[in-house]
Amino acid sequence: MLGRALLSLSHSERVRHLVETAPISRNVVARFVAGKGPDDAVRASQTLIHSDLKVSVDHLGEDTVDRTQAEGVRDAYLDLLARLSDAGLTGSAEISVKLSAIGQVLPGDGEKIALEYAQAICTSATTAGTTVTLDMEDHSTTDSTLSILAELRKDFPSTGAVLQSYLYRTEADCRDLATAGSRVRLCKGAYNEPESVAYQDAAAVDRSYVRCLKVLMTGPGYPMVATHDPRLIEIAGVLAAQNRREQGSYEYQMLYGVRPDEQRRLAGAGERVRVYVPYGEQWYGYLMRRLAERPANVAFFLRALLTKG
Ligand code: FDA
Repeated sequence: MLGRALLSLSHSERVRHLVETAPISRNVVARFVAGKGPDDAVRASQTLIHSDLKVSVDHLGEDTVDRTQAEGVRDAYLDLLARLSDAGLTGSAEISVKLSAIGQVLPGDGEKIALEYAQAICTSATTAGTTVTLDMEDHSTTDSTLSILAELRKDFPSTGAVLQSYLYRTEADCRDLATAGSRVRLCKGAYNEPESVAYQDAAAVDRSYVRCLKVLMTGPGYPMVATHDPRLIEIAGVLAAQNRREQGSYEYQMLYGVRPDEQRRLAGAGERVRVYVPYGEQWYGYLMRRLAERPANVAFFLRALLTKG
């Protein structure tokens, strides 16, 4: 209930303004977001990479309203890639892109614009020696995102996909995408989705996650197990062993600031672990999704409000 309320608030301009200007926000945000600028993202990536972790850096921003804004996001990614390359990090740092941030939902030729800008980002990532993963957003964009992914993979076959186990359709999508070399990040899903398209019950989402993971681990692709859930992490390990997968033929992924001890534990056990590192001015929607996921995060937020506010 609380989670759904917070996800609804992620669209409220009034609450956005309140949270963005609250004196506490900086501390709360710093736990989940690397900082406002690309230098912050590079610095955070450097620290994580020095602890044997990999990263996927995300320039925060979604629901772009015009072409100029989309262009700005594309340029921010080109700049980020140049900085990661200059810092010698692209062997361990890739990037994550939300297509809505580069124009996907603009009326008319939004999808075409997003494809064009994603191609520019993928070209630059390839030159820098790294890869791009397309984040998945709410279900109304799934078909469009998968069709842009298919187009991008013609020239950039290592482009990563994201699938969300809360959607009924995802097991079938996993079967389609479990092909040789196909990088697929499997997560539970972070948006407020209706019963017509998504499981509402947490246990059903988890069961779907396991079914989807079985498909990905059995296939010849590259599964990216994006979860903090201890049970699912354990099951992923068992499935990898059952399918005689070597470490490095799949990876674990977690969010910046979430279960850092577990990130280091897995990496220490020889697993490949990638941390999703978000940075940028537009942290509000991202923060609200993190708060919605876990009551303890809300308590942390409220405690910070009371002590600093
Ligand atoms: P969930 O939130 O259900 O938590 C399960 C269990 O994990 C908890 O009971 C607890 O044991 C443990 N746990 C979780 N958070 C913890 C914490 N802070 N401290 C201690 N234990 C904790 N979503 C999306 O829709 N599109 C996308 O593109 C992406 N991309 C993405 C990338 C990466 C790398 C990750 C890790 C996640 C995403 N997500 C996403 C978000 C994803 O869909 C989901 O909302 C969150 O990962 C939370 O779900 P969990 O699987 O962690 O389980």
